[in-house]
Amino acid sequence: MRFKNEDIDKVIGQLDIVEVVGEVVELKKTGMNYKGLCPFHKDTNPSFMVSSSKNIYKCFVCGAGGNAIKFYMDYNKLTYGESIYELGKKYNLNIAPVKSGQSQTINKKYYKILEEALLFFSENIFTNSGREALEYLNKRGMKPDFIRENKLGYAPNSWNSLYDYLIKKGYEPEVLSLLGLIKKSEKGYYDTFRDRIIFPIYSPNGDVIAFGGRTMSDRKDIAKYLNSPETPVFHKGRNLYGIKNRGSNVRRKNYALLMEGYMDVLAAHSYGFDVALAPLGTAFSTDQAELLKRYTSNVIIAFDMDNAGRVASEKAALVLKKYGFNIRVLELKNAKDPDEFLKKYGKSEFLKSVKNSKEIFDFFYEYYVKEYDLSNPMAKQNFIIRFKEFFMSVETELEKSLYLDKLSVSLDVGKELLKDILISKNKVIEYTKMEVKPPSTNQIKINELELETLKLSLKKRKYYKSFKNKTILSKLVLDIFRVIEENENKNYIRELLQGKYFKLEDDEEEILLNISTELSSKSQEEVENNYIEVYKRWFNKEIEEKMMYYKDEKKIFLYLECKKIYEIINNDRKKEELEESYEKFMSMKV
Ligand code: CTP
Ligand code: MN
Repeated sequence: MRFKNEDIDKVIGQLDIVEVVGEVVELKKTGMNYKGLCPFHKDTNPSFMVSSSKNIYKCFVCGAGGNAIKFYMDYNKLTYGESIYELGKKYNLNIAPVKSGQSQTINKKYYKILEEALLFFSENIFTNSGREALEYLNKRGMKPDFIRENKLGYAPNSWNSLYDYLIKKGYEPEVLSLLGLIKKSEKGYYDTFRDRIIFPIYSPNGDVIAFGGRTMSDRKDIAKYLNSPETPVFHKGRNLYGIKNRGSNVRRKNYALLMEGYMDVLAAHSYGFDVALAPLGTAFSTDQAELLKRYTSNVIIAFDMDNAGRVASEKAALVLKKYGFNIRVLELKNAKDPDEFLKKYGKSEFLKSVKNSKEIFDFFYEYYVKEYDLSNPMAKQNFIIRFKEFFMSVETELEKSLYLDKLSVSLDVGKELLKDILISKNKVIEYTKMEVKPPSTNQIKINELELETLKLSLKKRKYYKSFKNKTILSKLVLDIFRVIEENENKNYIRELLQGKYFKLEDDEEEILLNISTELSSKSQEEVENNYIEVYKRWFNKEIEEKMMYYKDEKKIFLYLECKKIYEIINNDRKKEELEESYEKFMSMKV
């Protein structure tokens, strides 16, 4: 059961926490708050607080805390959705769940259209117009049978062939545009994919949800790949390219090969490695980790063998480790990527590389060790600190201990000391390091986080409200925030550019112009995702500061409390959970 965010806000706003909790916990008023015995642990001394002004509860012993929904959910062991539903009924709030049946019917219609488009592309490649595409793929080792099986296609060199094809079948341009198949300009609609080889992208359930298109030209001014935009059925950070048969191959073989691109995955499939998958032109995300976890806990990363590939491997590995994956990293000698390697050396050599792949810790060790001169004590210390993020991502104590053993032996440094640096004295040191400010000569008008914050705040008042109390440093942002605060308005950007509120400097004007173009090219969905990302970044920043403070003050209990929240927010990106964690964080005593 899912509810609209507005409805959830409504429930939280309208419910009286004292009333909801008071039904099952005996509460006594003490000053501003109410106190009682915590229902979430064996409490003998009332350590459970309910604050009606903040509309939250909190147990200072077991750490339970949150809003009315969270309480109801945990107390009655319900899901988030079920709790909202029951609370809505119980307290007569006029809310209803989003009808999933309804959205499924709509999605079915979308899948049908995308299926039609796929048919168009995949038939086209075998016609005269697709000859060059077919030859190109042949040259890259893909035979007609393989192309047919995988439904690879070709989008003709025309502005409207797909458009005409689908309109003739009776589909509306609006819906085709919504699905990213066509785009709109002043002159009318035109095909998104033109003169490109088409790779269908499937959902885990096997529906076509999007397309990737590769140009055959090597002109530098043409993007090599073009992907469908975010649509109601396609969210690239939540899908993986190459999932076959609902993931059953990965499940059966119990491992996945994570590669960078379309070509690598297809080459791997054609050589029998049907467990090859790729994030879709983005950094590997936590949603993708969650998706993969449904099929296996074993991943071999096989990214490109250049520096970008190594950096991407490091990032993906840290995400995967947080989700408890066993990770190995593949090293391909004398080839830039899996595609090239397979073609040069064939299946059995690839298999050998798989067998020789490095366990993630060894990969990190060898990767980091190149950056430091271990004969220098300071460098050695920095080298050790480099592993902090890795240890933060490791889930179990046993695993941490085994990795500490390894590091201790390799570096000839006592395990207890390493543990102290990497685990017990967690995180904080690193942040002081990371927060090093750029030199002040380097005139930066606005830092990146504040810029993102500004974009969102200009987009929606709701976003502005959520950010307005942040510690903003840039004057431009502060000025614009004041404008937003004082004027209810839809078109701030235009009016700011017209100089209606204050005179803009040239560079400020440029910043706003960029924001304006960027915002107009983004879908609601993308903007919302950005919002969650930025929300999380602020949250991280604030919690890190608080952790440092508690650490200095030796308030270990509060410090650990923060750490717990910190770990939650870095594991899960769902908006409600983030907001809930934030509330929990804000409700902590200083
Ligand atoms: N990518 C993208 N947009 C681009 C370039 C790359 O979305 N302009 C994504 C694609 O998913 C691509 C992946 O990043 O598959 C890796 O890029 P690259 O290594 O350049 O592509 P390959 O798949 O190796 O393709 P090819 O071998 O045809 O160069
Ligand atoms: Mn590549």
